[in-house]
Amino acid sequence: MSERLGCITCDATYDIGKVRYTCDCGGLIEVQRGGPILHRDTFEARRMSRHPNDQSGVWRFREAVLGVAPNTIVTHPEGGTRLYLRNGIYFKHEGENPTGSFKDRGMTVAVTQAVALRVRAIACASTGNTSASLAAYAAQAGIPAVVFVPAGKVASGKLAQTLAYGARCLQVRGDFDAAMRLVREACDKLGIYLVNSINPFRIEGQKTIIWEMLQDLQWEPPDWIVVPAGNLGNTSAFGKALKEAFVNGWIPKIPRLASIQAHGANPFFRGYQESFATRHRMSAETIASAIRIGDPVSWDKAVTAIRDTHGVVEEVTDDEIMAAKRTIDGLGIGCEPASAATLAGVRKLRAAGAMKDGERIVCILTGHILKDPEANYRPENVMEIDATIGAVEKSLSS
Ligand code: F0G
Repeated sequence: MSERLGCITCDATYDIGKVRYTCDCGGLIEVQRGGPILHRDTFEARRMSRHPNDQSGVWRFREAVLGVAPNTIVTHPEGGTRLYLRNGIYFKHEGENPTGSFKDRGMTVAVTQAVALRVRAIACASTGNTSASLAAYAAQAGIPAVVFVPAGKVASGKLAQTLAYGARCLQVRGDFDAAMRLVREACDKLGIYLVNSINPFRIEGQKTIIWEMLQDLQWEPPDWIVVPAGNLGNTSAFGKALKEAFVNGWIPKIPRLASIQAHGANPFFRGYQESFATRHRMSAETIASAIRIGDPVSWDKAVTAIRDTHGVVEEVTDDEIMAAKRTIDGLGIGCEPASAATLAGVRKLRAAGAMKDGERIVCILTGHILKDPEANYRPENVMEIDATIGAVEKSLSS
């Protein structure tokens, strides 16, 4: 299997072992792969295996993810997340990954590549989930980790987790976009390996969310795949995954992507409304702190993904997000606020007639319910009482 880095804007290519996030022309870099068509039966057989590389929902698809020696793979293993059918909608819960978010799928690949490159340290900017995932995989690989987070803007579960795994945490005075600019400069200057989703190996891992879901649906694609959109890594990865699944003959048709943004952090939605004529940047604000992002790095890849899948971009308000979260939590599944943007988006797209009755829909829940404890508190269900049976009876009768 021949793999190389290629620019998505011009024809430039680079050796797979080069550290490259953008091309000399400024375009984003992706992993490109030649070689024979892969048969999906290969992945079925691995589901019966006990080997960690086969049990991983990422490395089960390894020929289409990254060609490395099997004994150099840094895997928990990750993936293998469930698909829940509730009230006629599928929910694939990526919060069931080892560190509680979909980020582990990209991180296992980026950190495996970091080991191959013998880097001295790895870094990311993060709204909290990438940093927790990076910290865990760096700890496993024995590589020092540095995370750049917007000071005071990260949900407590994510920050605690990042620190527990032993990463050094730089709290940047500014928003996520400022932290992102700073980590890019720092990595270039200090020779640190950057593992945000601008790193093409992250995208290769995140493709497997789609492939695992398709495998669980016995390769009968749904009509829609709905995903929250922040830095646009997942939207980009999903477009690439669907194209590759189609080209390899794993699926007979390409489902439509629906990328959902929070109204206060909606540059991609604004771009979509004008057929992506201009790239929008903004100062972002939303209760869904994971997607509080105003200048997404994977913009150009995500535009291709929306175009290639005949996809849509929608926006939802914070109230719509929290109402959808309450529904998902009330199903006994639960998720962090950003993930609930999916169901909120489905509600809006159905009301507008863009999604039709009877269409099969898969929502990707990106993060675990405990990631953002503040968003879970329901004071109306809490009552402090005296330790008497009378107090119990009184509280339950009201
Ligand atoms: N959902 C969750 C729970 C996230 O943590 C993120 C991104 C997204 C959705 C958006 O995904 O960036 O691929 O469009 N979190 C990043 C982080 C920014 O630092 O953890 P995207």
